[in-house]
Amino acid sequence: MHFKTIIEPFRIKTVEPIRRTTREERAIALSEAGYNLFLLKAEDVLIDLLTDSGTGAMSSHQWAGMMRGDESYAGARSFFAFEEAVREITGFKHIIPTHQGRAAERILFGSVLKPGDIVPNNTHFDTTRANVEYRKAIALDLAIPENREPQRYHPFKGDIDLEALERTLVENPGKVPLVMLTVTNNSGGGQPVSMANIRAASELCHRHNTPFFLDACRFAENAWFIKMREEGYADKTPLEIAQEMFSYADGCTMSAKKDGMANIGGFLALNDDDWARRCKNMLILTEGFPTYGGLAGYDLEAIAVGLREALDEDYLRYRIRSVEYLGEVCMENNIPIIHPTGGHAVYIDARAMLPHIPWNEYPAWALSLALYLEGGVRSVAIDTVMFGRQPDGSEKPAPLDLVRMAFPRRVYTQSHVDYLAEVLVYVNQVRERIRGVRITEEPPVLRHFTARFEPIHPDGVLINA
Ligand code: F0G
Repeated sequence: MHFKTIIEPFRIKTVEPIRRTTREERAIALSEAGYNLFLLKAEDVLIDLLTDSGTGAMSSHQWAGMMRGDESYAGARSFFAFEEAVREITGFKHIIPTHQGRAAERILFGSVLKPGDIVPNNTHFDTTRANVEYRKAIALDLAIPENREPQRYHPFKGDIDLEALERTLVENPGKVPLVMLTVTNNSGGGQPVSMANIRAASELCHRHNTPFFLDACRFAENAWFIKMREEGYADKTPLEIAQEMFSYADGCTMSAKKDGMANIGGFLALNDDDWARRCKNMLILTEGFPTYGGLAGYDLEAIAVGLREALDEDYLRYRIRSVEYLGEVCMENNIPIIHPTGGHAVYIDARAMLPHIPWNEYPAWALSLALYLEGGVRSVAIDTVMFGRQPDGSEKPAPLDLVRMAFPRRVYTQSHVDYLAEVLVYVNQVRERIRGVRITEEPPVLRHFTARFEPIHPDGVLINA
C-alpha cells in the first residue's frame, strides 16, 4: 500500500517558541523599523521566510558531531571528517573550508581574476556578482530566455543559454578565466539546472580550455529535480546524481548554510594545483589555516554530517513538496508566482499582483510589508529597491519585482505553511488597497539592507481602509 501523504521525516526534540503579535503591535514595529523588514527584531516575526541560509534546524546527529569537534589549530580530526564528506560528494582534489559562501567567492576571484575579465554564469547571486565586480571584472548573466518569463513552464528554468555562452567564449579569447553555473539558480527563481545543461556547458568550456565551476549552494535540491524530471535519473540516488553533477566541474564554491544544513560555513573545492595553492595563501591571510578556514572544529563536523543528510530522499521529497504545496495554493488563488516553483522558495510576481503600484513606488517592497502587517510573516523583496540604483545615481526598474518566501530547512511544518497560505489569500483579497512606499533615507550601496521608507498615503497607512 502506498500512502500519499508526504510527512516531515523527523520528530521534534527541541522547540523554539515563536511569538504572536497583534496587528497594532506589528504596525508600530513596522514604523519603528522604517518600513524595512531587515530592521525588524526577529522576535517580532511569527514565520520568518527572509532566507533559507543558515536558518535551518540541525539534526541530533549534527549536534552529536559538534560534541566530537576537534578544536586543534592544525590537522584537526574534524577537518578530515569534513574533507571526506566533501570529497565523497564532489570528488575534488583540494578542499578548502571557509566561513561562508561569499568568502569562497572572494578567495577564488581574488586569486584568479584580472580587471576586464568576464565571468559568465546562469545568474550570479548578489554576493557572487559583487565579488566579481570588486575585482573590476564583468559578471555576465546568461540564463535561458524562459527564465525571464515568470508564468512560463520549463522543467529546468535555471539552465544557462549555451549559444550565448559559446558566443561569449569565442568572442573573448583569453578574457574568461572561468565559467560558473549556479545550482539551483537562486536569483532566477530557485530553478534547477538539468544534467544535460551541466554536461554541455562543461564540454563547451573545456573545448575552450576554460575552467568550469559550480556555485553549489543548493546542489542537493538540484539533484532531486534531476531525479524527478530528467530522463534516465529516476532510479539513481541523489548522491549518485550529485556526484555526476560535480564530475563535470573543475571546482565549486559552496555556502554550507544551505544544503550543508549548517548555521555557518562553506568551502571552495577544486582540482587545479596552482589555483589551489594561490587560494590557500589567500585563505591564510584572512580566513585561517587551511584545516579550519574560519570555522570551529565543531562547525566542520556539523557540515560533514549535514551534507549527507541533505541528500536523504525522504528529506528532499518533503522539502521540495513543501515549497510546491505553497505554490499550488498561490496558483489556485490566482496569485502570480514564478512557475514552476523552485527548490527553496516561492517567488511572487508583485508587479503582476499589484499593477496599481508603479515600479518606482516599489510594489514588491509594499507587498512584503503587507504580508508582515497582516500575518507576521517576513519575506524578502528581490526588486527595484535591491537592484534599481544605477552607478550614476539614476534609478531603473529591476527586470522583475519579486517577493521571495524562502523556506528554512526542517524548521516549519505543514500547519505553518497552511497558516501562510491563509495570510497570502487574505492579502490577495485586499491587494487593491495596498499602497506603494517612498524612500526617506538611503545609503549609497546595497540600500535594501538599511534604507528607510514610508507609505505613500496622506495618513501614512500601508493598506487603505
Ligand atoms: N551563492 C548563492 C546562489 C547564494 O544563494 C548565496 C547566499 C551565496 C552564494 C552566498 O553564500 O551567504 O554563505 O555567503 N544566499 C543567501 C540567500 C544569503 O538568502 O539567498 P553566503
